[in-house]
Amino acid sequence: MNYIEVRNLVKTFKERGKTLTAVDGISFSAKKGEIFGLLGPNGAGKSTTINILTGLLEKDSGTIKLLGFEPEKNWEYVKNHCNVATAYSWLSDVLTIRQNLKVYARLYGVKNHEQKINELLELFELKEIADRKVVRLSSGENTRTVLCKGLINDPKVLFLDECTVGLDPDIADKTRTLIKDYQKKNDCTILFTSHYMYEVEQLCDRIAFMSEGKIVRIDTSDNLKRMIKKRTVEIAVKKDVGALKNFLKTEGVDVWFGKGNNLRFEVTTEKDKMYKVISKIFHQGFMLSNLHIQGPTLDDIFIKISRKK
Ligand SMILES: Nc1ncnc2c1ncn2[C@@H]1O[C@H](COP(=O)(O)OP(=O)(O)OP(=O)(O)O)[C@@H](O)[C@H]1O
Ligand SMILES: [Mg+2]
Repeated sequence: MNYIEVRNLVKTFKERGKTLTAVDGISFSAKKGEIFGLLGPNGAGKSTTINILTGLLEKDSGTIKLLGFEPEKNWEYVKNHCNVATAYSWLSDVLTIRQNLKVYARLYGVKNHEQKINELLELFELKEIADRKVVRLSSGENTRTVLCKGLINDPKVLFLDECTVGLDPDIADKTRTLIKDYQKKNDCTILFTSHYMYEVEQLCDRIAFMSEGKIVRIDTSDNLKRMIKKRTVEIAVKKDVGALKNFLKTEGVDVWFGKGNNLRFEVTTEKDKMYKVISKIFHQGFMLSNLHIQGPTLDDIFIKISRKK
């Protein structure tokens, strides 16, 4: 079953007589238990989409279904089973972490809220500072508080808009594990945006690429990476580095980095070119001390799609 369903969603903003189409007829769906990534350059329309889905903005046209229901018609049910955590959340500065979480627990009608809050504070390592006012928090502590708010009602659909911004690498790693564990345990659906490609790759089952309000492509990260046919090959030889350079030249491969006995070059996998070049290097008798083949990363794909290369 689709827990998130979006069809032909449009949102425009009017500013000083001009109309900006922030979301331009997008359609996508995410199944129960799926982590669905929304990627795209700044201003692509990701947050606008999430703000519409979470009821913060009104759409111009299109249909939305969350947990199989149109939110407008079943607001109470949808609200109680969805939640959002975003780096741009506005927790109350003058309240403490615990007080903020109490407010949201009440809004979401959470039963046993004291216990739930304590569990979340423990999970996100905030127990020690639970009675500190939000205004005094570091950005990482604020981000973790926002994540606690996002999980306060055990949501079945969770929207995470750049929810890991400002976390140090250790906490960011723990946070990704917590998100993944929560998702697995509750079979919840997550719509996830981030500009950190490695975490998108680590967490998301499928990814939709947005650009200028439109979805350009939806696929798994493995399939997206197949869009790029180039590989970077790093090679080190025991001797004869000059002869290897010449050999690569005759094969039509440009060496674009060379230091000592190390060479780095880019070669296409089309028509098996990379496999043929590497196998010829072996057959020529070059004595290799290192061979490393690097495939494209999601960053490469992001850049390729964003620059429309
Ligand atoms: N309330 C608003 N009024 C006018 N324009 C807006 C408003 N909200 C968003 N926009 C514009 O809509 C476009 C999409 O913005 P949005 O915040 O959805 O992008 P995004 O994909 O989330 O970008 P980022 O990666 O920077 O977070 C941008 O050009 C933005 O300036
Ligand atoms: Mg955004």
